[in-house]
Amino acid sequence: MNSDSPGRIPGDRFLHSPGPTHIPAEVLNAMHRQPMDHGDPRLDQLAATCETGLRRLLQTERADLFMYISNGHGAWEATTENLLTPGQTALIPGTGHFSEQWAIQAEATGRRVIRTPHREGYPIDPNDVEQALRADKKREIVAVFTVHTDTASGATCDLKAIRAAIDAAGHPALFVADIVASLAAAPFAMDALGVNVAVGASQKGLMCPPGFGFVAVDARAGELAAKNPAPRYYWDWGRRKAEYSYRKFCGTAPQNLLFGLEAALALLDREGMAAVHARHASLARAVQVAVECWSREGAVSLHCRVPEARSVSVTTIDVRPGVDVEALRSVARERFQVAFAGALGPQFGRAFRIGHLGDVNAAMILGCLAGVEAAMLVQDIPFGRDGVQKAVECLAAG
Ligand SMILES: Cc1ncc(COP(=O)(O)O)c(C=O)c1O
Repeated sequence: MNSDSPGRIPGDRFLHSPGPTHIPAEVLNAMHRQPMDHGDPRLDQLAATCETGLRRLLQTERADLFMYISNGHGAWEATTENLLTPGQTALIPGTGHFSEQWAIQAEATGRRVIRTPHREGYPIDPNDVEQALRADKKREIVAVFTVHTDTASGATCDLKAIRAAIDAAGHPALFVADIVASLAAAPFAMDALGVNVAVGASQKGLMCPPGFGFVAVDARAGELAAKNPAPRYYWDWGRRKAEYSYRKFCGTAPQNLLFGLEAALALLDREGMAAVHARHASLARAVQVAVECWSREGAVSLHCRVPEARSVSVTTIDVRPGVDVEALRSVARERFQVAFAGALGPQFGRAFRIGHLGDVNAAMILGCLAGVEAAMLVQDIPFGRDGVQKAVECLAAG
């Protein structure tokens, strides 16, 4: 909505950041209610329903769910604090901005990090993971922290291949997957993939407001955490294993967010996960086809060089030197009501990103692409003019 506008601008502003994403009316409406008292059994029931729904979404039968009033950074920190004592080591394969931020955060809390190289435009190479684990003769690496989709690069790695790399190295490290950007957009099956801990957040494919992070923890990771003597309180998984919502959340539960999450999970269930994944794949293809057309004139290009690794959640678009990304975003947002994201970290100013995850449909994507084209015209950025047309054809072909 354009509620921040001084005068009324008709219609909605299209939100195409890769999180926070557009929130469906069903979710907003579900949150619009008074809280319950802590002792109301319906509150415990609500938390349990959300846990069950998340388990179903993650395709895990067995994992414990721990939910935090936090963003993704909080869920990262919960994982680090529970799995590693200060001085212990995580292997963090390079995916770009988000693997690096996770590494910096782990180091800031006293953990050691071994990184594998990130090659711009490419997903994780599982061979790098295998080699790093084979080189760890003393078995000091406790866990492999893997970002499934790096929201900055727009590349999705192959979790199955990374699991295979860990197994091939014969290393006992836990497999931890950050699915913040891929959850409810790309297929993910925690148990089948042998993921020990999955880390997620509310504001992307889950179609909820920001403010809710969670981790799903399998028995092996839970046992390791239980033996970890590092002092911790708020993040502690052991403390949160309880039926009572006040214990689950280490304090007051985020009730209205839970109502929203319950509604969002029901929407995903109603659509069916196969359809949700197919919708994301189709919309992503339309965006990427359009960008390929735009790129004919040489000013913009797809950042991810590996077509099968291009994310179904977000597309990162490189720009050639001289293109003012922030001016482009500003024109798109203020004149055409299309809000998309800039680049992060070292890529800042060299790329922009179109989010296409969560509560999105074909008309929204076409509106977004047309808005970006209009802004490129205003900014005198040359682009192949048939981008929207090719996206329409792509969507029409199904
Ligand atoms: C892949 C990934 N991991 C972690 C985070 C951190 O999440 P938050 O910004 O909610 O702290 C993000 C945020 O965009 C992300 O995209």
